[in-house]
Amino acid sequence: MDAALEVLLSEAAIAVRVRELAGQISEDYRQAGSLLLVGVLRGCYMFLADLSRRLTIPCRIDFIAVSSYGQSTTSGAVRLIMDLRSDIAAQHVLIVEDIIDTGRTLEYLTRLLGARRPASLKTCSLLIKEQSIRRGIRVDYLGFTIPDDWLVGYGLDYADRFRALPYIATLSPAARRTLG
Ligand code: PRP
Repeated sequence: MDAALEVLLSEAAIAVRVRELAGQISEDYRQAGSLLLVGVLRGCYMFLADLSRRLTIPCRIDFIAVSSYGQSTTSGAVRLIMDLRSDIAAQHVLIVEDIIDTGRTLEYLTRLLGARRPASLKTCSLLIKEQSIRRGIRVDYLGFTIPDDWLVGYGLDYADRFRALPYIATLSPAARRTLG
């Protein structure tokens, strides 16, 4: 393994938690009839693939893409890059994220999709950073709370690298400086 990486969550640990989340979601939506999973591109792709195939209820899948700019500044605005293809009015919708860092993306999406009058709107994230917990941000279905480090793997990138790793690792500050 790359010396700059230190495993935080192994492939096996992730698989166990994803199975638990899928079990809980399946139970909660059993009566709902159908569930629309909304994946937030690009980081969600691996988690969404694993979570959806563990669900034991019918589901449909759509994607949305947003981009944050000025995250290191005070603005931290989020903008829509690609909208859903589905009309979500009267649908049971679950937003699926890989990570909640500052919480701005989730806040934006909850507002945007909530205005479209879904039957219900909930959130699921594999990871949430401690800084978001401290800010009072809450998720309906959460995999793990993680420290405020830079993480890569299982969909998470640094400069578009490391996304396809099957585990989640911290990336050393020295490696971040080298990769730019
Ligand atoms: C990441 C992640 C979330 C968002 C969370 O996406 O996938 O969507 O940041 O950050 P926030 O809580 O501070 O808003 P990113 O913008 O890096 O794009 P990517 O998924 O395409 O890598």
